Amino acid sequence: MKVLLIGGGAREHAIAEALKKSPSVKLYTLMKNRNPGIYRLSEKVSLKPETDLEAIKSFAEEVKPDIAVIGPEAPLEAGAADVLWDMGVPTVGPRKEAAQIETSKEFMRELMKKYSIKGSVEYASFDTYEGVEEYIDSLSERGIDVVVKPVGLTGGKGVKVVGEQLKDNEEAKGYAREILEKKIGGGKVVIEEKLVGVEFTLHGFVDGKNIAFTPAVQDHPHAYEGDRGPITGGMGSYSCPDHKLPFLTDRDLEEAKEIMRETVEAIRKEVGPYQGILYGQFMLTADGPKVVEYNARFGDPEAMNILPLLKNHFLEICEAIVNGTLDRINVEFERKASVCKYVAPKGYPTNPVKGKVIKVEEEKIRETGALLYYASVDERDGKLYLTGSRSVALVGISENIEECERIVEEAMKYIEGEVFHRRDIGKIELIKKRIEMIRKLRSNS
Ligand code: GLY
Repeated sequence: MKVLLIGGGAREHAIAEALKKSPSVKLYTLMKNRNPGIYRLSEKVSLKPETDLEAIKSFAEEVKPDIAVIGPEAPLEAGAADVLWDMGVPTVGPRKEAAQIETSKEFMRELMKKYSIKGSVEYASFDTYEGVEEYIDSLSERGIDVVVKPVGLTGGKGVKVVGEQLKDNEEAKGYAREILEKKIGGGKVVIEEKLVGVEFTLHGFVDGKNIAFTPAVQDHPHAYEGDRGPITGGMGSYSCPDHKLPFLTDRDLEEAKEIMRETVEAIRKEVGPYQGILYGQFMLTADGPKVVEYNARFGDPEAMNILPLLKNHFLEICEAIVNGTLDRINVEFERKASVCKYVAPKGYPTNPVKGKVIKVEEEKIRETGALLYYASVDERDGKLYLTGSRSVALVGISENIEECERIVEEAMKYIEGEVFHRRDIGKIELIKKRIEMIRKLRSNS
């Protein structure tokens, strides 16, 4: 079974490892950097930009894969799934139009509104500055702070929230103007009401009509301990043995699932079937779960929590996604906890160290029981170099979160370089803070 994998981060390393659990899989990977973990698992790699459709096409023509799996969002936006399906390669990852659920924040909000899907927020989109101030003022009058988002992809750097990257709603107006003038993320802007609560993520495997949910996960986007500092791609994440989260009730989870089911159905009606991984980023508010955003792929780091717990072979899931047969298989996950922590270069994300050596003692890490996934590192002359983004992810899997966290910290001793990680992720004190925040929100509502 020849599988073409697109992407070269830790998420794709986890995907590669999950695929290789099927002995029949031969992996062919197109990635922009030489990820040593993926490199070792692949029969052949093509080091090309992941959005280069010609390179994807010619690698697929050469390899003749039976199936393809697309990891990151950028190739989805470029139309990699369309190119591959059109060549006759069944592909896990939505076509360009369906991927708009991530690549256009306007498409996502309008879809939820049109199909009256619960969990949306007040919003308006603008392609000129006219009306922006009036809209923000109308929310300010009701005591509502705003979030300002470029409509298109910005590599995770475009969304700004009042109270975090923006001082107040006045500053939000300036940022909206900047997006429009500098054409950031396509040059259109969405203004939304700011949600107050605790964020969580829920993923589903989607075959166009059926959706099989994975354990809920909580990511930690802030760079520094105590949820301080700039927003990053995610510094680490955890999941629980019951596949819920300690602050989430059964009802909250069921509501989030129903929102995702309705979204999949709405995408099918609007632009055709969605086949791939759907990632719902939710805010649990006093009013229940609300959609912060959708992503058309696995979360990173969340993939490293989910895939090691999957009992099925991931290839079986991928085949069911492309064949529309998810309802015929039983998707199961280990009843275990997981903690993932990312190691990032010092200064990440604003001014990261680059080009310095990072030493990873793989054998010692394996002896601790931790799983190791390589991310933004480049392997040259037998050494690993930092490339400026999150470098290596370590994962502990065990009966409880405390033990997972301990395993990861033990393994951290075997990574050396100008790097840092968040020690507090997966610690009970931090989780208790989330539980307390939801308790307070709910008792005030
Ligand atoms: N966990 C954040 C992301 O994957 O976008």
